[in-house]
Amino acid sequence: MDDARTAPLPDLAWRPGDVSGVPYRVYTDPAIYAHEQARIFRGPTWNFLCLETEIPAPGDYKTTFIGDTPVIAVRDANGTINALVNRCAHKGSLVCYKPFGNVAEFNCVYHNWVYDLRGRLTGVAFRRGVGGKGGLTEAFDQDAHGLEALRVATYRGLVLATFDAGTPAFPDYIGAELLGSIDRVLIKPLKVLGYHSQILPNNWKLYVENNKDSYHASLLHVFHNTFGVVRPTMGGGIRISESGWHHLSYTERVPIADDEIGREKVRSLKDQYQLDDPSLMEHRLELGDTVTNSIQTVFPTLVVQQILNALAVRQLVPKGVDRSELIWTVLGFEDDDTAMLELRLKVNNLVGPAGFVSMEDGCVGGFIQETAKADGRARTVLPMGGSGIEPSQGSRVTEAAVRGFWKGWRDCMGL
Ligand code: FES
Ligand SMILES: [Fe+2]
Repeated sequence: MDDARTAPLPDLAWRPGDVSGVPYRVYTDPAIYAHEQARIFRGPTWNFLCLETEIPAPGDYKTTFIGDTPVIAVRDANGTINALVNRCAHKGSLVCYKPFGNVAEFNCVYHNWVYDLRGRLTGVAFRRGVGGKGGLTEAFDQDAHGLEALRVATYRGLVLATFDAGTPAFPDYIGAELLGSIDRVLIKPLKVLGYHSQILPNNWKLYVENNKDSYHASLLHVFHNTFGVVRPTMGGGIRISESGWHHLSYTERVPIADDEIGREKVRSLKDQYQLDDPSLMEHRLELGDTVTNSIQTVFPTLVVQQILNALAVRQLVPKGVDRSELIWTVLGFEDDDTAMLELRLKVNNLVGPAGFVSMEDGCVGGFIQETAKADGRARTVLPMGGSGIEPSQGSRVTEAAVRGFWKGWRDCMGL
């Protein structure tokens, strides 16, 4: 086992099993961040790398990150997808420094060590030296100096990897019920429509919490509420995996019991504003139900998104203790017509970093990061919907999924 996984954690003075609030220090302490790399990202978790459709042919690769670790996802001659740590076994140069490409093998630019698409070291420049002098000795074991290969799982076109031999198979990791909601969204062969990337001025966990925090959706995102994507009076609910680690929050165009406060807010805003282009809120039902909004998290940092017809996977990459990068892969289906394609792009632009939703999430993450620095002993409180991690039918006014995330975090951190 990675030694860093057993090194002692800083004392957080946090009662065992408590997920009713979080010490701010977890968002700001570089020592905690280092432990997370070992215990979460290099620990027993599945991490998103890419979509199968992004690397369709032998030799196609995409580079990405699991936590701080650079990783290459590459399809080999047999069609198998391999995940390799993108760090030369010689002196650690990035082996592959482009985002995408197609290669027959990987050549490290520094001293030209060569690796095949399974990460095996196949060539060392000047291995016999020059003129019989220098070079490698007989003792050098070429087989022991490949690129580190990770376990790979594919599911419905998603490609994920784990460092840990003990991580349960992906379907068991996420659990049958939440697996079904991935099936619901990634229902047909996928087509990548484009990418957004957004730098968030906050610790990675603040964005993960934000995705699990269904309570804020109709309050912070006033556009959602005003124009009917998410309102507190809509049907839907929260599902949480048995482990607490993963969740689904969804809304349906089915009204539930009256919520006078919510209705008043909606009515007054609706009276003031209307869209010049109402097609922005057009929703072509395509997934066999009336769900308008479905946000699903896979611990630690993957989000599968359906907002009306805007489909995407969001991958969060930590970039130090107070910064993260959110990478959106915007999706459609292979058989989309032009009108559907335009609709998907329009709504994705609306909710993406330059629109009215993700910009707001990034902004509040920055607000919290700012205050978290001040006093690491102070704590958040997470009281909405009780103190456990129970699912909720009909109401999204609960922080149960956020508490579930902290259970997962504590499970992995051994805290
Ligand atoms: S660092 Fe890659 S060959 Fe030397
Ligand atoms: Fe949000």
